[in-house]
Amino acid sequence: MNLLVVDDEVELGSVVATEVAKVLAAAEFATLGLATGSTPQPAYRALIQMCRDGELSLANNNAFLLDEYFGLPASHYESFAATIQRDFVHGVDFPNGTVKSLDGMTDNAAATCLDYEHAIQASGGIDVQLLGIGRNGHIAFNEPGSALDSRTRMVELTQETIAVNGAANFDQFQPTHALTMGVGTILEGRYLIMMASGPAKATAVQQALEGPVDSACPASAVQTHENVLVVLDRAAAAQLS
Ligand code: PGA
Repeated sequence: MNLLVVDDEVELGSVVATEVAKVLAAAEFATLGLATGSTPQPAYRALIQMCRDGELSLANNNAFLLDEYFGLPASHYESFAATIQRDFVHGVDFPNGTVKSLDGMTDNAAATCLDYEHAIQASGGIDVQLLGIGRNGHIAFNEPGSALDSRTRMVELTQETIAVNGAANFDQFQPTHALTMGVGTILEGRYLIMMASGPAKATAVQQALEGPVDSACPASAVQTHENVLVVLDRAAAAQLS
Protein backbone atom coordinates (compact mmCIF):
# COMPACT_ATOMS: atom_id res chain seq x y z
CA MET A 1 0.00 0.00 0.00
CA ASN A 2 1.24 3.46 -0.82
CA LEU A 3 0.32 6.22 1.58
CA LEU A 4 0.56 9.91 0.81
CA VAL A 5 -0.19 12.63 3.32
CA VAL A 6 -0.90 15.99 1.73
CA ASP A 7 -1.30 19.50 3.07
CA ASP A 8 -4.73 20.43 1.85
CA GLU A 9 -7.61 19.47 -0.37
CA VAL A 10 -6.16 21.15 -3.44
CA GLU A 11 -3.11 18.91 -3.19
CA LEU A 12 -5.31 15.90 -2.50
CA GLY A 13 -7.30 16.64 -5.65
CA SER A 14 -4.23 17.15 -7.74
CA VAL A 15 -2.48 13.95 -6.54
CA VAL A 16 -5.56 11.83 -7.17
CA ALA A 17 -6.30 13.39 -10.56
CA THR A 18 -2.70 12.82 -11.63
CA GLU A 19 -2.94 9.15 -10.66
CA VAL A 20 -6.21 8.69 -12.52
CA ALA A 21 -4.76 10.40 -15.58
CA LYS A 22 -1.77 8.03 -15.47
CA VAL A 23 -4.05 5.00 -15.56
CA LEU A 24 -6.05 6.47 -18.42
CA ALA A 25 -2.93 7.32 -20.39
CA ALA A 26 -1.66 3.76 -20.07
CA ALA A 27 -4.82 2.12 -21.38
CA GLU A 28 -6.69 2.41 -24.63
CA PHE A 29 -9.95 1.88 -22.81
CA ALA A 30 -10.28 2.13 -19.04
CA THR A 31 -13.17 1.81 -16.64
CA LEU A 32 -13.40 4.10 -13.64
CA GLY A 33 -15.18 3.43 -10.38
CA LEU A 34 -16.61 6.65 -9.00
CA ALA A 35 -17.45 7.68 -5.45
CA THR A 36 -19.84 10.43 -4.46
CA GLY A 37 -19.50 12.42 -1.24
CA SER A 38 -17.48 15.44 -0.30
CA THR A 39 -14.01 13.86 -0.17
CA PRO A 40 -13.52 13.25 -3.91
CA GLN A 41 -14.73 16.73 -4.91
CA PRO A 42 -11.24 18.25 -5.21
CA ALA A 43 -10.16 15.32 -7.39
CA TYR A 44 -13.18 15.79 -9.64
CA ARG A 45 -12.48 19.51 -9.91
CA ALA A 46 -8.86 18.78 -10.86
CA LEU A 47 -9.92 16.19 -13.47
CA ILE A 48 -12.43 18.62 -14.98
CA GLN A 49 -9.70 21.25 -15.18
CA MET A 50 -7.36 18.78 -16.91
CA CYS A 51 -10.09 18.09 -19.48
CA ARG A 52 -10.69 21.80 -20.02
CA ASP A 53 -6.97 22.33 -20.48
CA GLY A 54 -6.85 19.57 -23.08
CA GLU A 55 -4.55 17.41 -20.92
CA LEU A 56 -7.08 14.61 -20.46
CA SER A 57 -9.96 13.07 -22.31
CA LEU A 58 -12.46 10.50 -21.06
CA ALA A 59 -13.89 9.92 -24.52
CA ASN A 60 -12.62 6.32 -24.50
CA ASN A 61 -13.71 5.57 -20.97
CA ASN A 62 -16.70 4.54 -18.97
CA ALA A 63 -17.55 4.48 -15.28
CA PHE A 64 -19.59 2.79 -12.58
CA LEU A 65 -20.87 4.48 -9.45
CA LEU A 66 -20.30 2.69 -6.17
CA ASP A 67 -23.75 3.03 -4.69
CA GLU A 68 -27.22 4.58 -4.72
CA TYR A 69 -30.03 5.24 -2.27
CA PHE A 70 -32.85 2.72 -2.57
CA GLY A 71 -36.18 4.34 -3.36
CA LEU A 72 -34.73 7.41 -5.03
CA PRO A 73 -35.05 7.86 -8.81
CA ALA A 74 -31.93 8.83 -10.74
CA SER A 75 -33.74 12.05 -11.68
CA HIS A 76 -33.97 13.13 -8.02
CA TYR A 77 -31.57 15.94 -7.17
CA GLU A 78 -30.10 13.98 -4.25
CA SER A 79 -29.59 10.68 -6.06
CA PHE A 80 -25.97 9.73 -6.47
CA ALA A 81 -26.60 9.45 -10.22
CA ALA A 82 -27.63 13.12 -10.32
CA THR A 83 -24.92 14.16 -7.87
CA ILE A 84 -22.05 12.66 -9.87
CA GLN A 85 -23.50 14.27 -12.99
CA ARG A 86 -23.32 17.71 -11.35
CA ASP A 87 -20.04 17.16 -9.56
CA PHE A 88 -18.02 15.53 -12.29
CA VAL A 89 -19.60 14.07 -15.40
CA HIS A 90 -20.99 17.35 -16.77
CA GLY A 91 -17.47 18.79 -16.92
CA VAL A 92 -15.73 15.95 -18.72
CA ASP A 93 -16.24 14.09 -21.97
CA PHE A 94 -17.44 10.59 -21.17
CA PRO A 95 -19.55 9.43 -24.13
CA ASN A 96 -23.26 9.76 -23.35
CA GLY A 97 -24.67 6.90 -21.32
CA THR A 98 -21.34 5.43 -20.27
CA VAL A 99 -21.54 6.41 -16.60
CA LYS A 100 -23.63 3.70 -14.98
CA SER A 101 -25.35 3.73 -11.64
CA LEU A 102 -27.52 1.35 -9.67
CA ASP A 103 -31.26 1.84 -10.17
CA GLY A 104 -32.62 2.96 -6.82
CA MET A 105 -36.17 2.43 -8.04
CA THR A 106 -35.76 -1.20 -8.96
CA ASP A 107 -38.49 -3.62 -7.98
CA ASN A 108 -36.00 -6.48 -8.13
CA ALA A 109 -32.91 -5.40 -6.25
CA ALA A 110 -31.21 -8.79 -6.46
CA ALA A 111 -31.50 -8.84 -10.27
CA THR A 112 -30.40 -5.20 -10.56
CA CYS A 113 -27.34 -5.89 -8.43
CA LEU A 114 -26.43 -9.03 -10.36
CA ASP A 115 -26.83 -7.16 -13.65
CA TYR A 116 -24.49 -4.48 -12.31
CA GLU A 117 -21.84 -7.07 -11.49
CA HIS A 118 -22.21 -8.49 -14.99
CA ALA A 119 -21.96 -5.05 -16.57
CA ILE A 120 -18.75 -4.33 -14.65
CA GLN A 121 -17.31 -7.65 -15.81
CA ALA A 122 -18.46 -7.07 -19.38
CA SER A 123 -16.60 -3.77 -19.46
CA GLY A 124 -13.41 -5.58 -18.45
CA GLY A 125 -13.53 -4.79 -14.73
CA ILE A 126 -12.72 -1.55 -12.95
CA ASP A 127 -9.26 -0.20 -13.69
CA VAL A 128 -9.19 2.54 -11.10
CA GLN A 129 -11.61 2.74 -8.21
CA LEU A 130 -12.00 5.95 -6.22
CA LEU A 131 -13.08 5.44 -2.62
CA GLY A 132 -13.95 7.57 0.36
CA ILE A 133 -14.27 6.19 3.85
CA GLY A 134 -17.09 6.71 6.31
CA ARG A 135 -16.55 7.79 9.90
CA ASN A 136 -17.68 4.30 10.86
CA GLY A 137 -15.20 2.66 8.49
CA HIS A 138 -17.63 1.95 5.68
CA ILE A 139 -16.57 1.89 2.04
CA ALA A 140 -19.31 2.67 -0.43
CA PHE A 141 -22.39 1.74 1.63
CA ASN A 142 -20.77 -1.36 3.09
CA GLU A 143 -21.53 -0.65 6.70
CA PRO A 144 -19.68 -2.31 9.60
CA GLY A 145 -20.49 -6.02 9.60
CA SER A 146 -20.42 -6.26 5.79
CA ALA A 147 -18.62 -9.41 4.72
CA LEU A 148 -15.28 -8.70 3.12
CA ASP A 149 -16.27 -10.88 0.17
CA SER A 150 -19.72 -9.29 -0.20
CA ARG A 151 -21.08 -8.56 -3.65
CA THR A 152 -23.32 -5.81 -5.00
CA ARG A 153 -26.52 -5.91 -2.96
CA MET A 154 -29.16 -4.09 -0.98
CA VAL A 155 -28.03 -2.94 2.47
CA GLU A 156 -29.61 -1.27 5.44
CA LEU A 157 -28.05 2.08 6.31
CA THR A 158 -27.11 3.04 9.84
CA GLN A 159 -28.79 6.11 11.30
CA GLU A 160 -25.35 7.69 11.60
CA THR A 161 -24.68 7.26 7.88
CA ILE A 162 -28.08 8.69 6.96
CA ALA A 163 -27.45 11.72 9.18
CA VAL A 164 -23.80 12.28 8.22
CA ASN A 165 -24.52 12.00 4.50
CA GLY A 166 -27.26 14.58 4.82
CA ALA A 167 -29.98 12.20 3.70
CA ALA A 168 -31.94 12.92 6.87
CA ASN A 169 -32.71 16.31 5.31
CA PHE A 170 -34.11 15.08 2.01
CA ASP A 171 -37.58 16.45 1.27
CA GLN A 172 -40.27 13.79 1.53
CA PHE A 173 -37.79 10.94 1.33
CA GLN A 174 -36.09 9.18 4.19
CA PRO A 175 -33.72 6.52 2.92
CA THR A 176 -33.31 3.45 5.05
CA HIS A 177 -31.59 1.24 2.47
CA ALA A 178 -29.18 1.52 -0.41
CA LEU A 179 -27.76 -0.54 -3.22
CA THR A 180 -24.00 -0.82 -3.08
CA MET A 181 -21.12 -2.55 -4.73
CA GLY A 182 -19.86 -5.13 -2.24
CA VAL A 183 -16.50 -5.12 -0.53
CA GLY A 184 -15.52 -8.13 -2.64
CA THR A 185 -16.66 -6.32 -5.79
CA ILE A 186 -14.58 -3.28 -4.87
CA LEU A 187 -11.51 -5.40 -4.16
CA GLU A 188 -11.64 -6.69 -7.74
CA GLY A 189 -10.76 -3.22 -9.00
CA ARG A 190 -7.19 -3.25 -10.33
CA TYR A 191 -6.14 -0.06 -8.58
CA LEU A 192 -7.85 1.42 -5.55
CA ILE A 193 -7.41 5.04 -4.55
CA MET A 194 -8.82 5.72 -1.11
CA MET A 195 -9.10 9.31 0.05
CA ALA A 196 -9.89 10.88 3.40
CA SER A 197 -9.80 14.40 4.72
CA GLY A 198 -10.63 16.08 7.99
CA PRO A 199 -10.39 15.08 11.66
CA ALA A 200 -13.71 13.22 11.66
CA LYS A 201 -12.09 10.49 9.58
CA ALA A 202 -8.92 10.04 11.66
CA THR A 203 -10.17 7.12 13.78
CA ALA A 204 -11.67 5.26 10.84
CA VAL A 205 -8.47 5.78 8.83
CA GLN A 206 -6.34 4.44 11.68
CA GLN A 207 -8.55 1.37 12.06
CA ALA A 208 -8.72 0.79 8.32
CA LEU A 209 -4.97 1.00 7.75
CA GLU A 210 -3.48 -0.23 11.02
CA GLY A 211 -6.24 -2.26 12.65
CA PRO A 212 -7.13 -5.89 11.94
CA VAL A 213 -8.65 -6.78 8.59
CA ASP A 214 -12.16 -7.26 9.86
CA SER A 215 -15.71 -6.71 8.72
CA ALA A 216 -16.18 -4.45 11.75
CA CYS A 217 -14.23 -1.94 9.63
CA PRO A 218 -15.02 -2.75 5.99
CA ALA A 219 -12.38 -0.27 4.76
CA SER A 220 -9.71 -2.45 6.39
CA ALA A 221 -10.19 -4.77 3.41
CA VAL A 222 -7.96 -2.45 1.38
CA GLN A 223 -5.02 -3.90 3.34
CA THR A 224 -5.52 -7.14 1.41
CA HIS A 225 -5.28 -5.46 -2.01
CA GLU A 226 -1.93 -5.35 -3.75
CA ASN A 227 -2.38 -2.07 -5.57
CA VAL A 228 -3.71 0.65 -3.28
CA LEU A 229 -2.95 4.33 -2.93
CA VAL A 230 -4.26 6.08 0.16
CA VAL A 231 -4.25 9.88 0.06
CA LEU A 232 -4.95 11.69 3.33
CA ASP A 233 -4.78 15.21 4.55
CA ARG A 234 -2.90 15.77 7.82
CA ALA A 235 -6.03 15.78 9.95
CA ALA A 236 -7.23 12.44 8.59
CA ALA A 237 -3.75 10.97 9.09
CA ALA A 238 -3.37 12.28 12.64
CA GLN A 239 -3.95 8.98 14.46
CA LEU A 240 -1.62 6.87 12.32
CA SER A 241 1.43 5.62 14.16
P1 PGA B 1 -17.68 11.86 2.45
O1 PGA B 1 -18.28 10.40 2.50
O2 PGA B 1 -16.67 11.87 1.37
O3 PGA B 1 -18.86 12.75 2.14
O4 PGA B 1 -17.09 12.13 3.79
C1 PGA B 1 -17.42 9.32 2.51
C2 PGA B 1 -18.19 8.06 2.74
O5 PGA B 1 -19.16 8.08 3.53
O6 PGA B 1 -17.83 7.04 2.16
